[in-house]
Amino acid sequence: MDSYEQLLRNNKAWAADVTAKDPDFFKRLRDVQTPDFLWIGCSDSRVPANEVTGTVPGQIFVHRNIANMVVHTDLNMLSVLEYAVQVLKVKHVIVCGHYGCGGVKAAMGNQSIGIIDTWLRNIKAVYRLHEEEVNAAQDAETRFDRMVEFNVMEQVANLSKTAIIQRAWAQRGGPHLHGWVYRLSDGIVKPLIEMPAGSEIEAIHRYDNLV
Ligand code: CO
Repeated sequence: MDSYEQLLRNNKAWAADVTAKDPDFFKRLRDVQTPDFLWIGCSDSRVPANEVTGTVPGQIFVHRNIANMVVHTDLNMLSVLEYAVQVLKVKHVIVCGHYGCGGVKAAMGNQSIGIIDTWLRNIKAVYRLHEEEVNAAQDAETRFDRMVEFNVMEQVANLSKTAIIQRAWAQRGGPHLHGWVYRLSDGIVKPLIEMPAGSEIEAIHRYDNLV
């Protein structure tokens, strides 16, 4: 059997299993979603938002791209962010990176890969900001890990620089921003940084007319 056919068989089995355990599950989710969380994660197949957090459909609104980036010109990410924050009114926005991220690794290298070069430029910009701290690490593996961590922290900062987040902070005192990193080797998430509503934002990025 082709592998894609197996996916459809798995789906039938999963839906039957969920319904057996909770007969109203799909009925409850049919007309409304009220997730508390927006997850901005890497596209990497090994870091699925629901599985690693033990959550089920309906609990996490998800945006994934290569290397979990918050790029201020990315209309896709901004649309997801605005909808999650303004309409769904999520309480938490989580940027979750992961050690061993191929996107970060490629950005630290010198090979042109194609159109993705332009995307990876955003990660090279993170390196430029934290070059000294990254290079202070003893070995390549540790430098790579540090870059993954700095990248997550910069993307959280990028969230706070958007008018979408600053307006929500002014209007409803949320959402709470989080930067996490996932370890492929043991499945554990390490929290790196938190920015509660009202956190200090660099003066140049602060909007004073959002109420
Ligand atoms: Co990745």
